[in-house]
Amino acid sequence: MKTMAGPRKVIETAAPLVPAHGSLAQVREAASHCRACPIGELGTQTVFGEGRAHAPLMLVGEQPGNEEDLSGHPFVGPAGKLLDRALEEAGIDRQLAWVTNAVKHFKWEPRGKRRIHAKPSPLEIRACLPWLEAEISLVKPKIIVCLGATAAQALLGKDFRVTRDRGRLLASPFAANVMATIHPSAILRAVGAESREAEMRHFIEDLKMVAGLVKAA
Ligand code: URA
Repeated sequence: MKTMAGPRKVIETAAPLVPAHGSLAQVREAASHCRACPIGELGTQTVFGEGRAHAPLMLVGEQPGNEEDLSGHPFVGPAGKLLDRALEEAGIDRQLAWVTNAVKHFKWEPRGKRRIHAKPSPLEIRACLPWLEAEISLVKPKIIVCLGATAAQALLGKDFRVTRDRGRLLASPFAANVMATIHPSAILRAVGAESREAEMRHFIEDLKMVAGLVKAA
């Protein structure tokens, strides 16, 4: 018998979808089917975090971009390449990090034939948070670096301001040290070579603050 589909169930949080006591592989698999918020329908696939299973350092971005959405891997597009350069200059080996995002699907709007990044809403960030919390509880990083306001507000609260509070090591229930800095895309968007270079230098200085902790961990 044919049944009529009812209205789409709106889940406000991914929490019921996260397998209790699941491994990283099981959580990744569960996240691949997530439709806890409407962004799930937009992206090509869930872009879950990746890296070392017990990495001392976790890097958290905002959400996958176009290239990440297509490839399924975090920070592989232009912002990822800039991040790689900054990490290298700060003396941090990306292989020692777990790299992920606050939101696991690409939110975008069409502009002609292009898919343009759209900022996730606070509700969408909240809906996705259980996946990030599960990654943190399984990887158990000693240091978390929030890249940009979305990641910082997801983990440090809505009153956190990257412009005011960047580069400070904070204790948090998530890790012994949490620091927020700007998102690498902000450097790509900076107007003029001089301003871009200054932003890049400041970003590298922020990352250098955690380089020693990563080596000691
Ligand atoms: N920007 C992000 O915040 N994350 C990515 O993975 C890529 C771009």
